[in-house]
Order: sequence, then structure tokens, then C-alpha cells
Amino acid sequence: CSTLGIGLAGLGTVGSGVVLALQRNSELISDRTGGSVRLDVARVLVRDLGKSRPVAVPADRLTTEWKELVDDPAVDIVVELIGGTDAAFDIVAAALRARKPVVTGNKALLAERGTELFKLSREFDTPIHFEAAVAGGIPIIKTVQESFVGNRIQSMSGIINGTSNYILERMTTAGLEFSEALSEAQQLGYAEADPALDVNGWDAAHKAILLATLAYGFPIDPAEVHVAGIEQVRPIDIEFATRLGYVVKLLAVIREHPGGEVELRVQPSFIAKSHILASVHGVFNAVAVHGDAAGESLFYGRGAGQDPTASSVVADLVEAARSLRQPNGHRGFLPYRDSGRLLPVEETTTAYY
Ligand code: NAP
Ligand code: HSE
Repeated sequence: CSTLGIGLAGLGTVGSGVVLALQRNSELISDRTGGSVRLDVARVLVRDLGKSRPVAVPADRLTTEWKELVDDPAVDIVVELIGGTDAAFDIVAAALRARKPVVTGNKALLAERGTELFKLSREFDTPIHFEAAVAGGIPIIKTVQESFVGNRIQSMSGIINGTSNYILERMTTAGLEFSEALSEAQQLGYAEADPALDVNGWDAAHKAILLATLAYGFPIDPAEVHVAGIEQVRPIDIEFATRLGYVVKLLAVIREHPGGEVELRVQPSFIAKSHILASVHGVFNAVAVHGDAAGESLFYGRGAGQDPTASSVVADLVEAARSLRQPNGHRGFLPYRDSGRLLPVEETTTAYY
């Protein structure tokens, strides 16, 4: 069994979730990494060394100096989960220059400064993985990059900010004030460190920019995107929507027009109660992807929060580890184990869904 060291920048909601997920499923992850590779959290970057944490990390592995983390010879893969676009940029850029694969959940960083970082990624032949940056636990990045690679993507639309969706629902169904609902979303670990990004639509816009960049392959200037958030939604809007048979949702729309131009907008929208997106509740996200070959597919799941987001980070970590350990290996292998059994038919129950 060999070891790959992780440099984990950030031990907040998502960073802690990653440590917990790696502990919980360590054997399984090790097997699936393609030949017993142990992922070891070798170094952890935080702001405050004295803070009490929900996960235990040996004190000598904690640092407040990002250079120590990136330069540590025990670190093979850098995971950036501090958020923001300044220190996070320095960390990711330095990791790429050191040819250490990067995993990040930072949509603001990639939407605002991705052009520079993806250039470095190509220059140093080192990947940036970012499944966690869009729609939490939904594997939408790999879907667009890999499963839909043979399609011309005609549109992608849906709900890609869990905090806004949660707030709108709590205002509608529980009659909460905006600030009360936001405070709940913060306590549940859904909101950004700066929740203004959630409620002004920019978190969804950053994600939409990433999806559009993947689908259409050109850099997008955030200043050219139409963005309106739920901070503009008043209880009277919700009341009218309800009376008319609609719900209010923050919708992101990416659509290719016949001339090849791409429409990209984020805005609160009225959705008919009978529409499938009206049933996307709480922190859930849903993205409808329309490809010219596949037609429409809908991807649905938890869009924010500790465990779903950690799930996507760990998936990227395993992918990064596999390519370090088996650069020529193919991803489609099926891991076998000797034990395990099917539940005998007589022990099964009839299920109603
Ligand atoms: P968070 O709870 O605020 O955690 C941030 C962590 O980074 C903390 O441990 C903090 O240290 C550390 N940190 C921040 N700035 C730092 C700096 N300049 N130097 C050193 N350490 C620093 O944030 P989060 O919710 O985990 O989100 C992290 C990233 O994941 C963000 O990019 C966010 O957009 C993205 N994301 C979050 C979610 C979600 O549901 N929360 C989902 C998808 C993606 P201290 O603990 O010492 O303060
Ligand atoms: N703040 C984000 C949201 C986290 O609520 O969707 C997931 O990216």
C-alpha cells in the first residue's frame, strides 16, 4: 500500500467534510484508487490555529502559511477549500507550478480568474479538478466534460444555488423573514462565507459561467452576464406567485442561439407549480442539460452542505490520485472483492415509491 499526501487548504465546512469522508470510507477509497493507495492528509492550512474543530488533525500538521503547505514534500495533491479569489489564487497557481494536481470547490476563483489558472494548468501539464464547484454533490462537471462530450450542448438550465432555494422555500412555506431563512442556511453550512454572493445571484452566476465555459469553450467576462439575485424578491412577489399557481426560484439559464451566441443569465423566475423544477426543494439543485444527441437529461441532488460537497471533492481526489499512480491506466476498470451477497428473494419486501 503506497501513500499519497494531501495538502488541504481550508478546514471549514467542506474541508472538515473531506477529512471525515476520507476517514469514514478509507478502505473503500484506497481500493478504488486503483491498487491500495492511501490518501493521507499530510498538511492543513487554516487561518486560526486556536479554533476548536469538529475533526481532529495533529497539531504539527496545521499551518497558517500556505507556502509551507504547497512546498511540503509530503504533499502530492493540493485541495483548495479556503474560498475567495486572492490567497486561493496564489495557492492554486503555486501548486500548478510545482506540478501538484489541484482539487478545488471554488467557483468564484475559477469564474473570475480561471483563464489564468487553466493557462498555467496547460503550461505545467497539471490538472485542476473542480467537481465540487458546481451543484454540490451532483456530478455535473464530469457530465458536461465527459458524458456529453459527443453532444453539441444546446442549453443548460436550472437551480444551482442551494442557499437561495432554501431561503425562498422557507419564506414560502414557513413564512420566515428573509434574514431568518438566511441565518438557517448559514447554520446548516449551505451559505458562502460571504452570503451576499448567494443572495445577489453571483454564486449561481459563477457556476453558470463555469458550465458555459465547459460547454462552449470560450472565456466569459463576468461583467457581461445578466445577474439578479433573490435579495430583490419580496413577500408580495411570493404571495402573487402562489395565487397564480407559480413558485419563485432562482434560475440560471445557458442557451445557445441559432447564430452561435450564448445567452447566460441568472434571475428569480416564476415557475409553474406543475413544472419539474418547482419540486426542487430546500438545498436541492437540479440542472437540465440538453444535448443535440442525448436530448434532455435532468440532474438532481443536494447542491450544498458538508457531505455532498465533500463527496465531489473526494471523487476528484481519487481521480487525481489514480492519474498520479497509473498515468496510463484507463478509468473504466471494475474493482472486485471476494465477499458480498445478494439479499435472498424471500427476505426482500415489496417497496412502494
Ligand atoms: P468555510 O467554512 O468558511 O471554511 C473556510 C476555511 O478556510 C476555514 O477553515 C478557514 O480557516 C480557512 N481560510 C479562509 N481564508 C484563509 C486564509 N486566507 N488563509 C488560511 N486559511 C483560510 O468555507 P466552506 O463553506 O468550507 O467553503 C470552502 C470553499 O468551498 C469555498 O470556495 C466555497 O465556495 C466552496 N463550496 C462550499 C460549499 C458549501 O456548501 N459550503 C459547497 C460547494 C463549494 P479558519 O477555520 O481558521 O477560519
Ligand atoms: N453557497 C453555495 C450554495 C454552496 O448555496 O449553493 C454550494 O456551491
